[in-house]
Amino acid sequence: MCLPVRTRRQVYTRRFAMLEILVVDDEQEIAKSLGDFFTRKGYNVCIAKNGKIALELVKKNRPHLVFLDIRMPMMDGLSVLRSIREFDKSIKVIMVTAFGTKEIISEAQRLGAVDFIRKPFTREYLEHDVIAKVSVQLFEDLRQEIEEKNGLIEQLERLNQRMSRNFYQTVMSLATALESRDRYTHGHSERVEMYSKLIAQELQAAAVGKIDEKFFDDLHIESRLHDIGKIAVPDTILNKPGKLTREELAEIRRHPAESARILAPLEHIKDNIDVIYSHHERIDGSGYPERRTDKKIPLRAKIIAVADAFDAMTSDRPYRNALKHEAAFFELEKNKKVQFDEDVVDAFKRAYKKKKSRSEKEEIMLKV
Ligand SMILES: [Fe+2]
Ligand SMILES: [Fe+2]
Repeated sequence: MCLPVRTRRQVYTRRFAMLEILVVDDEQEIAKSLGDFFTRKGYNVCIAKNGKIALELVKKNRPHLVFLDIRMPMMDGLSVLRSIREFDKSIKVIMVTAFGTKEIISEAQRLGAVDFIRKPFTREYLEHDVIAKVSVQLFEDLRQEIEEKNGLIEQLERLNQRMSRNFYQTVMSLATALESRDRYTHGHSERVEMYSKLIAQELQAAAVGKIDEKFFDDLHIESRLHDIGKIAVPDTILNKPGKLTREELAEIRRHPAESARILAPLEHIKDNIDVIYSHHERIDGSGYPERRTDKKIPLRAKIIAVADAFDAMTSDRPYRNALKHEAAFFELEKNKKVQFDEDVVDAFKRAYKKKKSRSEKEEIMLKV
């Protein structure tokens, strides 16, 4: 028999607590007083008047906690306890006894009873002692449940990270494959990464911006993936030898937003997406996709913009031959403060000069 949940408050508590208690006692008065007490507290209570009914209810309802009388006709409490533990070890059993001997109590403990209460009960004993024992046991249950859930969450997080990393590797390979489609863009993102790194090192030396190890890690991801959205642009437009129509130009200009859309599921690079998204913005607000101005463009996007433009100018295109490095630097200088960030262009010029004089020295050393 399960007692009805009576008041609105109890319904509320039950819905959230959903804690099931089974009271097993052949003395109806005792069972009822214990049952009524916990029903008033908002628990879902069932009562069994003997061991056989108790085991049926245990199998049917899997209660969180059982109050089990030791001395009952036909099947005593210890036999019922043994069967409950065989069925489900997580069910807490508190033995109820009027005159339990030491031997019976230690046998019940050996079989897995978690606690004892003495009957008959006074209201005070129920309010203070019994409720405390129940709280301790149910809290323990809850704690274990939370630990199990936390373990599961950790496992899921690890799985998610692994999947995210695999997807990241796939996207990286895709970026390389995308550039291998034709000779014009072959190796573009690798060169953009190399120029971007040179610029960042020079800016770091000049103490411009907050440039640390993470900055370089982020720059690696962003420079390598900045054009991944071009996968959505047809080859016929990307490699068109002549002048692009307005529609074709609009199609190409979708690629930063496409890159952001493709990379959005990658949780561990979510902070890199805005840089990738804004690598074609210009200082004067004439860029795309959002026409952002100077302060609203992230530093790494400004770096990639310069590295990207330099590589585009110094590579062959279907409609023109590659510019010499000096001519490309002249173009960067001309568009400083309009299209490109001044500090970034200057840093690139300094870095390029240093690298050039280093390679010349190395060449002389080799000849000597
Ligand atoms: Fe781009
Ligand atoms: Fe690019």
